[in-house]
Amino acid sequence: MFKKSFLYLVLFNMVETVFSATPQELLKGYETHSSKGSPVQGEQFFNTKHGKEWSCASCHENPPNHDTKHIITGKLIKPLAPSANPTRFTDNIKVEKWYKRNCNDVLGRECSTQEKADLLSWLITIK
Ligand code: HEC
Repeated sequence: MFKKSFLYLVLFNMVETVFSATPQELLKGYETHSSKGSPVQGEQFFNTKHGKEWSCASCHENPPNHDTKHIITGKLIKPLAPSANPTRFTDNIKVEKWYKRNCNDVLGRECSTQEKADLLSWLITIK
């Protein structure tokens, strides 16, 4: 019994180490597969509609450094900027899950690595 729970603990910690990160580390990771993130492009991308009904700012607002409301459900969304919400961009699985869903809602496709680099390079500059 002890052995088994110990093993789970070890595994859990390994998974935590592999998938938890800082926003800066995530950005570096994107930038190894793209050009350097451009905060100017990121801000523009975030505030613009891309052929569909919403922009990122429709739910997260601009700047996304305060609690906002989901445009459809009215549910509370915590700030997206890491300065206002230290849990943001620290869990790559969560980040990817939401990118997939939100980019699809806003662009009708997944966001590219360059777009993610631009977005995050901007988000970490927000006070
Ligand atoms: C229709 C509403 C809506 C739109 C539009 C939207 N989001 Fe979100 N987003 C959410 C919700 C809901 C969550 C998850 C709840 C939470 O984490 O507070 C979320 C979470 C995220 C996360 C997770 C970050 C983390 O580390 O926790 C990222 C990244 C994100 N959104 C980026 C974007 C980007 C980029 C766009 C534009 C392409 C966008 N969102 C558009 C509603 C939206």
